[in-house]
Amino acid sequence: MAEGISVTLEKLEIEKTNSGICTGTNWSETHGPVIMSENPSTGRDIAAVQSASYDDYDLMIKGAERAFLEWRKWPAPKRAEIVRQIGIKLRDYKEDLGRLISIEAGKILQEGMGEVQEMIDICDFALGQARMMNGVMLRSERPDHKMYDQYHPLGIVGIVTSFNFPMAVWAWNTMLAVTAGNVVVWKPSSKTPLTAVAVHKVISGILSENKVPEGVFNLVIAKSSVLGDRFIEDRRIALLSITGSTRVGRHAAQLAGKRFGKVILELGGNNAALVMPSANLDLAIPSIVFGAVGTAGQRCTTTRRVIVHEAVYDKVKERLVNAYRQLESRIGNPLNENTLIGPLIDSAAVDAYKKAISNALSEGGKLAYGNSIVSGPGIETSNFVMPTIIEAQNHFKIVQEETFAPILYLIKAGSLEEAIAFNNDVPQGLSSTLFTTILAEAEKWLAEGGSDCGIANVNMSTSGAEIGGAFGGEKDTGGGRESGSDAWKLYMRRQTVNVNYGNEMPLAQGIRFEF
Ligand code: UN1
Repeated sequence: MAEGISVTLEKLEIEKTNSGICTGTNWSETHGPVIMSENPSTGRDIAAVQSASYDDYDLMIKGAERAFLEWRKWPAPKRAEIVRQIGIKLRDYKEDLGRLISIEAGKILQEGMGEVQEMIDICDFALGQARMMNGVMLRSERPDHKMYDQYHPLGIVGIVTSFNFPMAVWAWNTMLAVTAGNVVVWKPSSKTPLTAVAVHKVISGILSENKVPEGVFNLVIAKSSVLGDRFIEDRRIALLSITGSTRVGRHAAQLAGKRFGKVILELGGNNAALVMPSANLDLAIPSIVFGAVGTAGQRCTTTRRVIVHEAVYDKVKERLVNAYRQLESRIGNPLNENTLIGPLIDSAAVDAYKKAISNALSEGGKLAYGNSIVSGPGIETSNFVMPTIIEAQNHFKIVQEETFAPILYLIKAGSLEEAIAFNNDVPQGLSSTLFTTILAEAEKWLAEGGSDCGIANVNMSTSGAEIGGAFGGEKDTGGGRESGSDAWKLYMRRQTVNVNYGNEMPLAQGIRFEF
């Protein structure tokens, strides 16, 4: 812990009480309840936010609507120039922002800085994408006719983020959305409001220097009881990108669906690692451990199930338990360089951990490791839990659910086919991985009858995706895709254009309509 928390807060201009609305460079007066942000590692208050009331939000949206009319006229590469400058600024603040993520969300410093790196990477990606938001020329069946498709911005993009990636998910969405010509409204988790405040403090100088219209980059911190449903129902929000639990996403999708609002949903995962007899265990075991206990099991891509071929089951179990034993001394304050596992976000998360373990055991699961609250020197709250391994069966009710905690279910399979069936036999479909050295097994896994998830890996972790791929998953994960590949298209509306440059009026399908 080289640097005190107060120094980091000062560098990032976090005040004792911060405003809950920023429209780019202006921090408005807000009238909602005060939200106190607490450090999950120490239990101490960090700083407060005066949250927004509905009226404060409404005023901000009116400004966002005005800003859109101007911003959409900026050429895309010029808009991306702002994104480029943001990427450079983020490089300067990588350690400070990473440290604040550790302080507020409890992620270890390496992961906090990794999250800022994801923001930098998506800035670079969006910069290139700005010149490649292309439509294609299509072939008209009519003479002297031209047909093509083109993409226009949507308007206001609402972004709802979760505590576990309190900055990067905003960046994945925002950098593409603003490059595409939209304006954004970010509603961060009220568990991690200060990281959002800090990001806006860091970028505001760039916005004023470049005369970006006020209202392109908006932040609103509000209680979900004040702005949850009303945000989703607001017809002025053209697209909502929501990261959260399946329960929250299902509710939001139904509300947005009533008004035909567009959504990108990034919901729960129940990610499995499959281990075949030929697997290189020197590679598989550390990948599984990183996937299962990294971010204390609080990633949507966390490895929650290990489905092991019976021929190597005992060996894999023993090696995982041995690896977990080595982690015991690495649980602690996330700012400490030695730490690999920080706290869970709050006591409700600890309760969910305890309940899931007791449910798994009462359904017939066998504890292989863990199941305790960690205490000892340097541990200041009861938010630190022991990573846990339970031998279980795929059909257990609790195994079918996502518990945001480091609990790994060990499941035995008799064949690759059975392992794939187990992988797919859960409601969620985010990430998945297969460990094998046999090419035919890998290809089977990647073919249409293989993994049904949005992400299918071979010989690597389920978590830690790069920004260059489209990120998201199927089924209860919500079907959304954000970040890389052609996800930019979701932030734009497609328009099919037909032009007749002749003097005749030929109808499609050869229809004759003469009078
Ligand atoms: C999330 O947990 O909401 O693939 C996102 C990963 C990260 C993103 C996780 N790049 O683990």
